[in-house]
Amino acid sequence: MTDKKIDPILLEFPEEFETERLRIRATRPGDGAELNAAIRESQQELAPFMPFARVLPEPEETEQLVRRRRLHFLERTDLMMLMTDRFTDQILGASGLHRINWDVRRFEIGYWVRTSHAGRGLVTEAVHGLTDYAIRYLDANRIEIRCDDRNLKSAAVAKRAGFTLEGVLRNWLREEDGTLVNEMIFAKIRGVDF
Ligand SMILES: CC(C)(COP(=O)(O)OP(=O)(O)OC[C@H]1O[C@@H](n2cnc3c(N)ncnc32)[C@H](O)[C@@H]1OP(=O)(O)O)[C@@H](O)C(=O)NCCC(=O)NCCS
Repeated sequence: MTDKKIDPILLEFPEEFETERLRIRATRPGDGAELNAAIRESQQELAPFMPFARVLPEPEETEQLVRRRRLHFLERTDLMMLMTDRFTDQILGASGLHRINWDVRRFEIGYWVRTSHAGRGLVTEAVHGLTDYAIRYLDANRIEIRCDDRNLKSAAVAKRAGFTLEGVLRNWLREEDGTLVNEMIFAKIRGVDF
C-alpha cells in the first residue's frame, strides 16, 4: 500500500511487457511512419470515436506524437503504449494508461486496433495485460475503461475483460456537430476485482 505522496517521475516500472501474442511497449522515436500507416488503414473505424483520426495526420506529425508521448511516459504523466506483434514487431494498434491520478493510483485504459487485426481478441488480451501491469507495477487501486455508449465494440471489450459497468454519464460530451453523447464508465477496483 502506498500512502506517501512522491513525485511520480521517480517511480520505476518497465516500459514493455508481453502477453500471449503481444508485446505492449512505450512509444519510441521511429515508430511514427508505421503508426501513421496503421491510422490511415483504420480511419473509417477510428473516426467515429477517436477525434484524432478525423483529419488524417501526416507521418511527420505522428512521429512528433510518438516522441512527445515518450516524454510523457518518462514523466509518468500519461502512459501511451503500442500493441505490437510479439513475434514480428508489427504495430497492431495503440493502448495505454491515461488520465492518471497517482495519489489515488487511478488509471484509464484506452485502446484502438488496426482494422486488419480487429476481431482476433487482441484488444481484450491487451486490456488483461494492462490491468495486470497496473496492478503489479503501478499499485493500482482503480482501473477504468470509458466509452461512448454508442461504441458497442468498445463496451464489449470492457465487459469481455470482466470490468463492471458503474454508470452512464448522460450528456457528458458534445460532438463537433453538436450532438450530446453519453459516456459509459467501467471499472475494476482493488479489494473487489483484484
Ligand atoms: C473498440 C475496438 C478496439 C474493439 O476491437 P475488437 O477487435 O472488436 O476487440 P478484440 O480484439 O477484443 O476482439 C473481439 C472480437 O474478436 C473475437 N475473438 C476472436 N478470437 C478471440 C479471442 N481469442 N479472445 C477474445 N475474442 C476473440 C471476439 O468474438 C470478438 O468478435 P465480435 O466483435 O464479432 O464479437 C475496435 O473496434 C476499435 O479500434 N474501434 C475504434 C477505436 C475505438 O473506438 N476505441 C475505443 C475508444 S473508447
